[in-house]
Amino acid sequence: MTAIPKAHWFDQTLSLLREGNEFISHQCKRLGSDVFQTRLLLKKTICLRGREAAEIFYDNDKFIRHGAAPSRLQRTLTGKEGVQGLDGQAHQHRKAMFMSLMSSERIADLTDIFQAHWIENAKQWPQQESVSLYNEVNHICFLAAAQWSGIDLSTVNAHKQTENMVAMIESPASIGPSHVKGIIARQRAERWAQKLIQDSRDNATNSDKHCALHVFAHYRSPNGSLIDAKAAAVDLLNIIRPIVAIGRYVCFCAFALHKHPEYHSTLANGSDDDIHHFVQEVRRYYPYFPFAAAKVARDFTWQGYRFEQGTRVLLDLYGTNRAPGMWRQADEFNPERFAKRENDAFALIPQGGGFYDKHHRCAGEWITLALMESAVRFLTSSMTYRAVNSHVSIDLTAMPTLPDDGFLMTAVKLTKDADKRWQNSKIMRDYGTDSQSADAADFSVAGEEDPGAALEAFVESERTHPHV
Ligand code: HEM
Repeated sequence: MTAIPKAHWFDQTLSLLREGNEFISHQCKRLGSDVFQTRLLLKKTICLRGREAAEIFYDNDKFIRHGAAPSRLQRTLTGKEGVQGLDGQAHQHRKAMFMSLMSSERIADLTDIFQAHWIENAKQWPQQESVSLYNEVNHICFLAAAQWSGIDLSTVNAHKQTENMVAMIESPASIGPSHVKGIIARQRAERWAQKLIQDSRDNATNSDKHCALHVFAHYRSPNGSLIDAKAAAVDLLNIIRPIVAIGRYVCFCAFALHKHPEYHSTLANGSDDDIHHFVQEVRRYYPYFPFAAAKVARDFTWQGYRFEQGTRVLLDLYGTNRAPGMWRQADEFNPERFAKRENDAFALIPQGGGFYDKHHRCAGEWITLALMESAVRFLTSSMTYRAVNSHVSIDLTAMPTLPDDGFLMTAVKLTKDADKRWQNSKIMRDYGTDSQSADAADFSVAGEEDPGAALEAFVESERTHPHV
């Protein structure tokens, strides 16, 4: 048996806060090991990085989730009693409920709703001096998530609930007032979601049987009983909040296009595969949630190291996505790498690894890909814009991080492609009104007859800006 390499300091909570997303990778480099032991918040913690580590971390016989998540995470981001903290049969049963929402038809519906809300909101952007992509996309994602979940938008204060979702996402690692803001946001959002669940159970709302609200309100656990309305509310928020979280990924897409403007023209004329590879590289390259946490289920030995029951273990998601031995030129942004790569459930793990049905891998990964791909189509084909701050950057110590101005855009114009999308939208066909179609004229780019020419001019103007 070999002793697990130990970090030099007694407790490394401050180093984690200082180094943020790169904390585990930095330690791995210092110690020359992808496995090391430390203390975080005074608690013994083993940190792991890499493909083989991911494979062992998702072995349900070796690791459990109950009691693994730090309470500051539960009070803000995830809530208690949701699917994340379940193990064994209870987990698989509840997870199946989530995955039942992820058919390709339902994902196509969500993408369609997302597109319709994007265009509806984007119509205002050309009149504004600057537009915060982050604020706008968060709001669009909330509207799409709520509508897709079967919630009547006319009953919701969408701006307030978007704010709640964003505060929950931003606050787990923050300290002081912004952390408290996240706790209050969760309490408010849970009250709202619990009322929706209760109304659905009392038949006060007539939501579609295939939508999350109905499915979660009427879900029965393996013993046949309805789950507590609060737990159902936490899981309803486990759909709405992470769809809002995709807004941050859309900002990373815009940031990547800004840093690598050559992809603007490639993707504007690109195939679905080109867009998919770009989005995969964005998810690999930029950090979102840095780690996943579990607890050792029972003593075992792996690679000569002893893991003792009850020890907390963190898997480095970001570090695994950038691990030098796993990815050729790991620190270069190169979407083409995905053209040649086989799928591997334990290599690209920004949303966890393993398999959807039996592991804790993110239930919404397909949705994330679909909305990011749709957003990249918008950014490259349906609109032109300039970044307000050509030196916009990302602070890797922030958890979660974001382009520092939330990606402010100016000189936004919509192209005819946006009009085409609007006309092709199923939601628009189902619910479109005269006033919506009358707005179609707004889509043409002022002074530009040909949207292709507008895009070329845009790419050229991006090229002339210095990029960091
Ligand atoms: C911004 C995009 C997203 C990111 C970065 C993300 C990331 C993650 C991560 C890291 C996990 C934990 C994996 C683990 O514990 O091993 C997770 C779990 C989960 N995610 Fe996502 N996610 C995203 C979007 C979504 C979406 C759109 C949904 C649903 C519509 C969703 C629903 C869930 C659920 C239900 C779980 C818990 C799964 C389980 O415990 O079995 N996520 N996600």
